[in-house]
Amino acid sequence: MSLQHTYTLFAPVYDALIERASRPARARSLARLPAEGVLEILLAGIGTGLDLPFLPPSHRYTGLDLTAAMLRRAAARRNGLDLALAQGDCCALPFPGARFDHVVAHLIVAVTPQPLATLREAARVLKPGGSLLVLDKFLRPGQAAPLRRTLNLLSRHVATRMDVVFEDLLAETPELTLESDEPVLAGGWFRSLKLVKS
Ligand SMILES: C[S@@+](CC[C@H](N)C(=O)[O-])C[C@H]1O[C@@H](n2cnc3c(N)ncnc32)[C@H](O)[C@@H]1O
Repeated sequence: MSLQHTYTLFAPVYDALIERASRPARARSLARLPAEGVLEILLAGIGTGLDLPFLPPSHRYTGLDLTAAMLRRAAARRNGLDLALAQGDCCALPFPGARFDHVVAHLIVAVTPQPLATLREAARVLKPGGSLLVLDKFLRPGQAAPLRRTLNLLSRHVATRMDVVFEDLLAETPELTLESDEPVLAGGWFRSLKLVKS
């Protein structure tokens, strides 16, 4: 079963499972977007659009996701935002380089089968000086985490990877500089990171 299949099944219950627990971390991460101006912002792996209520209303947003059932729910959450939706793969974004002022990547870098490609693609479509907001679960360098690594054997095929070390990805993405890194949930397994493209 592919991630697209499982997220199609997951879509009707996604909000009930994820919305409440993730709300404070989303609000905090998205508060780092500029509140003024008209900027181009990509929501990579937008899902059901749980980020939308926290976005500054003046900007132009593009939401991309692999799963049509998730995108339909995001569309219903537009609430007046300038939001274009597209079906596509975050590991090979269908956008030219330097297209966006900021990229939001909440619960997507460690979800796709290719986290490094996902991070590199986000960096590619960012303008120099633009920021990338990442919220996800990452192991620390050298962390054994035997239970998570075992669960990952199944979870990577049906929902998310659990074995991703963010520092390993960052070492391969020199155009990104880490500006902040805060633990937000589950004893620091979930982290909120802000990166800036040079
Ligand atoms: C855990 S949900 C996160 C959704 C949303 N960003 C949030 O914070 O609630 C993961 C989303 O990534 C999507 N997805 C999985 N693999 C993807 C890929 N390779 N490209 C684009 N979207 C993908 C799924 O369809 C799902 O909507």
